[in-house]
Amino acid sequence: MNHVAGKPASLCLAASGPLTGDVTVPGDKSISHRSLMLGALAVGETRITGLLEGEDVLATASAMRAMGAEIERTGTGEWRVHGVGVGGLLQPATALDMGNSGTSTRLLMGLVASHPITATFIGDASLSGRPMGRVITPLSLMGATIAATPGPGRQTLPLTLTGACPAIPLRYTLPVASAQVKSAVLLAGLNTPGETVVIEPIPTRDHSERMLAGFGAQLSVTGSPQGRIITIRGEAELKPQTIQVPGDPSSAAFPMVAALIVPGSDIIIRNVGLNPTRAGLVRVLQAMGGRIDLLNERTVGGEPVADLHVCHSALTGIDVPPENAPSMIDEYPVLFVAAAFAKGRTVMRGIEELRVKESDRIAVMAQGLQACGVQCEELEDGLIVEGRDGDLVPGGATIAARLDHRIAMSFAVLGLNAARPVVIDDARPIATSFPTFVAMMEQLGCRLLPTADH
Ligand code: S3P
Repeated sequence: MNHVAGKPASLCLAASGPLTGDVTVPGDKSISHRSLMLGALAVGETRITGLLEGEDVLATASAMRAMGAEIERTGTGEWRVHGVGVGGLLQPATALDMGNSGTSTRLLMGLVASHPITATFIGDASLSGRPMGRVITPLSLMGATIAATPGPGRQTLPLTLTGACPAIPLRYTLPVASAQVKSAVLLAGLNTPGETVVIEPIPTRDHSERMLAGFGAQLSVTGSPQGRIITIRGEAELKPQTIQVPGDPSSAAFPMVAALIVPGSDIIIRNVGLNPTRAGLVRVLQAMGGRIDLLNERTVGGEPVADLHVCHSALTGIDVPPENAPSMIDEYPVLFVAAAFAKGRTVMRGIEELRVKESDRIAVMAQGLQACGVQCEELEDGLIVEGRDGDLVPGGATIAARLDHRIAMSFAVLGLNAARPVVIDDARPIATSFPTFVAMMEQLGCRLLPTADH
């Protein structure tokens, strides 16, 4: 994908004073992927507004086109999708390039698994190191044939998947708390005769359930001592929808933490999705003393949404409850940054899943924080950060972002409150999820500092 083409582009942001202003974050990445995928499986025209036009979502759009859907952009964030119908996906002529996107890969593997087609999935260096066994196992049980590349202790891309038609309905208990694995099985279940059941011992983001039901699939969710039981009945018929994608809480996390740590800041972030399965960071930052007020609470596209009023705050370190992890899994890197400015230590455990994200986010964040003069202790399943009680961090380091957008943005935020500049070696991956990040930070009053290659 684009971000790995050409030369690395370094980035260094500075705060010239308090952050102020009123900004909007781009559309939710999880909902954007699912809007395109489900629109591509409905018969008729799905209209989407607020779609995230980041590289990850564009990879999903290209893949759905390669499998027969008509997808066109009609304006900024405005897209139309003409679907092929469940069961109607065509065999792609060439390999599907998933770029940096684990969500595209794992969810599309689910879709292909119950269609009579073969698809090869390829990706960038980061994605090609990530574990795919977690989806290969259930999809193989449903009858798909998958040849993956053996990596160190895991199965990885490139991989070739041949779907089963008819696929075999499965009752599957998730061995890892992963919305991607849950969604892969449910999407495979769309074109599988009978009932496919996923049992989720620990709840994860529920966008797939909400959206599948919204598109007219027969889907039920019940509670049980074993966890949430999600049942989908195939072979489904999906009806086209009009979808308004709310702003991404995982993107809002960056200006939120920036405003909390830069003295005097007072900002508003508009239209932030606050689905309870995603809003863990807001709850944790509030528990640390962060002033985050929810304004104008409403429902957008079936999801709870609010505007966030965030002010600079004296934060206090806490023990973050491990059961919070799935509701803020992508936000830990920037929470580590907030913890660096808190009074006392912040203990974050039960987050070993961070080691298999776009990078090993525990190790990469620990190294970068230490390079910037923040004391922290890396644990197998987490990180303990010693806060500086509001003092600037020394900074003065160049951070290797390792093709990980959230590492790049987290250290860009840390640098706003550093004595010496913090340089991100390669900011191009930010375009996977938040193409307007730098412009939005400038709108809040941040300055771009020159780096060697600017
Ligand atoms: C996502 C699920 C999460 C998250 C990712 C998006 C999704 O991954 O980290 O950014 O849209 O379903 P896991 O399912 O691996 O936890």
